Amino acid sequence: MGNVIILGSQWGDEGKGKIVDLFSARFDIVARYQGGHNAGHTVVVGDKKFVLKLIPSGILHPGKQAVIGNGLVIDPAALLAEIDALESAGVQVGGSLFISNRAHVLFPVHRMMEKLSVSIGTTSRGIGPCYEDKMGRRGIRIADLIDPAVFRAQYDSVMEQKVAIARALGIYEELDLPRIRDQYETFAARIRPMVRDTSVLLNQAIRDGKTVLFEGAQGTMLDIDHGTYPFVTSSSASAGGACTGTGVAPTRISGVIGVSKAYITRVGGGPFPTEALDSTGDLIRRRGNEFGAVTGRPRRCGWFDVPLLRYTAAINGFDSLVVTKLDVLDEFDSIPVCTGYRAGAREVEEMPPTVAEIEKLEPVYQRLPGWRAATFGVCSYHDLPEKARDYLAFLESRTGVEVGCISTGPERNQTIVRPGSRFEKLVGQRNSV
Ligand code: GDP
Ligand code: IMO
Ligand code: MG
Repeated sequence: MGNVIILGSQWGDEGKGKIVDLFSARFDIVARYQGGHNAGHTVVVGDKKFVLKLIPSGILHPGKQAVIGNGLVIDPAALLAEIDALESAGVQVGGSLFISNRAHVLFPVHRMMEKLSVSIGTTSRGIGPCYEDKMGRRGIRIADLIDPAVFRAQYDSVMEQKVAIARALGIYEELDLPRIRDQYETFAARIRPMVRDTSVLLNQAIRDGKTVLFEGAQGTMLDIDHGTYPFVTSSSASAGGACTGTGVAPTRISGVIGVSKAYITRVGGGPFPTEALDSTGDLIRRRGNEFGAVTGRPRRCGWFDVPLLRYTAAINGFDSLVVTKLDVLDEFDSIPVCTGYRAGAREVEEMPPTVAEIEKLEPVYQRLPGWRAATFGVCSYHDLPEKARDYLAFLESRTGVEVGCISTGPERNQTIVRPGSRFEKLVGQRNSV
């Protein structure tokens, strides 16, 4: 056991929330490192369902510390609403949650500025414009928000500039800026007791022998550098982001685990080589209840994409893969898996950098036999139908990454950890969680 990163290996919504919640019991601290309330991580505990957006999924375990790292953009209204909802559901947040003083603050003006972005089907939460301000070195950070004098001065000058730009571009919407400032001062008062230098907190904890689970949001194919640019989010969702987004060095990380569905989905626009545009795509959507946890949009569905997974495995250095939602494929007679790409007569070995080139890829499929038996809720590898095990073995051999954990339903106990796997070494067995 050490410090482990768990992140999405596809286009997000792989089931990270369920896996992070379950295994956070084995760690002392769970830390989010990027993104904002564009994330929606679902955790099902008995008859309760939680959708976590900014708060790490480990928060549901009493006694664990949860950290919101410097790499996030925080809408304080969304954060406080999430804290209130959790506390009214009986989850203790106060005293457990720590927020980086270096994280950036998201304002209503960022949502307004999003109208300027290329139309890629974002979550309309203002995430991109807030990261633009961060990179443009004009952002307001949590440390500024909680210092009343600094905040007043910064807010007035930053907002004045933004309103002038918005007016000039004809996208200005009436915003009551002084009222928003007062509101943010109220938010600051509530947030202040949770603010820390979380890099110091995490590094001290690690020196004391405590362990950290890093929770990625979105997925590697939505990463600003490595994803299907410009159809990406504005942060570093891949493993490198865990270090820059928390201030913990790469030398302190023991392993990286990728979460993948047994198929693949995408919300919003952008290239998607293995998208199933026929009735099989609808069947996956229906069986997998593939509708966005944040926006409710139907997710686009398709088949497991081996070259894509090999690409994201290389970028992240996956030690092990968690394959989720295996049960969703229970009814299929046969299951296509994309094993390679072609562009005309040419075989394409590497993920092309441009949308135009990705859109030209023709997936090469191998059809594997379906198992046509219920895997829902199965919690031992040997109880899986033989053909389901063959399917997983095929993914493992073609991607070159072990399948160390399998999820067969949304609940904690609907999970299999393979004995002797690298996953078990890094994260532990579910039974002892
Ligand atoms: P995240 O953003 O990666 O945390 O994933 P989401 O929460 O957005 O979407 C995953 C959805 O699948 C949620 O509704 C989960 O409750 C559900 N889920 C997770 N694992 C499984 C599984 O193995 N089987 C089924 N049927 N549902 C699952
Ligand atoms: P979790 O953490 C799936 C997608 C949006 C859009 C693109 C950019 O739950 O896996 P943004 O609002 O971030 O600027 O939108 O990224 N997107 C996600 N898709 N899961 C997510 O998060 C996502 N967060 C953003 O749909 O295509
Ligand atoms: Mg999600």
